Amino acid sequence: MKLLNNIGREFSGYNVLESARRLVDRKPLQCSLYVTDRCNLDCSYCTEYDNSVPHPPLVDLKKWLRKIRELGTMRIALVGGEPLLHPDIVELVRYCRELGFATSLTTNGFLLTRKKLADLEEAGLQVMQISVDRMTPSPITKKTFKTILPKLDYFKNSKVSLHITGVLCDDTLPESTAVLETGLARGIPTEVRLVHADPKSFYRVQRGSPEALKNFIEWMIQRKQNGEKIHTNEAILDYQLSLLKGEPTEWTCMAGYKLFFVSAQGKFWVCSMVKTEKDIMDITLADLHENYRKKACQVGCGVYCAVSTSMLVERPAKVIGKEIVARAKRVPALVRQNFGSGELASLPANGDGAEHMNGSRHPAPRAKAEESLVGYPER
Ligand SMILES: C[S@@+](CC[C@H](N)C(=O)[O-])C[C@H]1O[C@@H](n2cnc3c(N)ncnc32)[C@H](O)[C@@H]1O
Ligand code: SF4
Ligand code: SF4
Repeated sequence: MKLLNNIGREFSGYNVLESARRLVDRKPLQCSLYVTDRCNLDCSYCTEYDNSVPHPPLVDLKKWLRKIRELGTMRIALVGGEPLLHPDIVELVRYCRELGFATSLTTNGFLLTRKKLADLEEAGLQVMQISVDRMTPSPITKKTFKTILPKLDYFKNSKVSLHITGVLCDDTLPESTAVLETGLARGIPTEVRLVHADPKSFYRVQRGSPEALKNFIEWMIQRKQNGEKIHTNEAILDYQLSLLKGEPTEWTCMAGYKLFFVSAQGKFWVCSMVKTEKDIMDITLADLHENYRKKACQVGCGVYCAVSTSMLVERPAKVIGKEIVARAKRVPALVRQNFGSGELASLPANGDGAEHMNGSRHPAPRAKAEESLVGYPER
């Protein structure tokens, strides 16, 4: 029975049906909401924090969330700045779940405690992304396993699905293999992705040798094809490889339509790079649909969540088909584990709460969202 549950987790997800609907209708799939601009770190590659402004009040965040939900958005990704700095983050997660959002939170993990994770879990948080760039700190980034490794234990019996994401650049590359191996060895879906393109030289980092970066991405593709828990789809790995080779990729950007961003001042942003002064409260479905077009900034675009969602909506069979093949390769290992160590007994079964995800006022079951084939786009 446990074995069947765990095989089931490889192929099902609580929101597959609703996500599938968003692939064919005109409503948005995902919104990333900046719950604050403030941050406790200053990663050299980041332009997404500003400590000169206060946290937005909870009452404003709730108003924007209601509007985002009214537009039909299924999933909310709480981002920043550093979301755990916001004093009302637990209440905010609870409200997201009351509105019926599938809810994720991206954090540098520095402020994560056992109690904070328990509170977020109790509020209904489903997915947490912890950003880890290196094993040890450097002048470029402090987001390392040195800080995060001792905290992984908090997730042992937690219903919150954890995944780890690192940034790949000149500074992190020598430790990226270790980052990936460390996450995967603990059964945590892990991914390392190229630092965004920086045409205006805002970042204080070098991208690194294209040859070395290509080798690393190819190695991740290999591991993905072997069925390991690389936390991204093959289309995005191929896309990053094309970026490095300078080869064009055919896609149509759905940012501003199927996914969009809302700033910590309540402004509608097409993506993290393309900002507008429009108030989210004034945005209509027709406004969103206008963004369903190829965009001048597509060449070299590094907003991987937008590329990923766009490719999924454009070619769901291709993207999901490859994912099914990759996950199928995990089944023999599950069988071996089940009849070997018995370790899988500790893994929770997957719930299917699709009926709760749209329009319900009740929180959906706290399923392991990471396993959804139409998973959370990366941030
Ligand atoms: C802006 S941060 C906000 C959440 C939180 N402070 C954190 O670092 O996880 C969201 C994600 O974007 C990533 N990120 C920031 N700047 C980036 C860049 N220039 N290229 C690629 N990823 C970047 C971060 O590493 C993190 O995983
Ligand atoms: S990446 Fe996250 S932790 Fe680093 S400076 Fe930006 S917002 Fe802060
Ligand atoms: S192409 Fe990239 S940068 Fe341009 S709008 Fe789309 S996601 Fe944003």
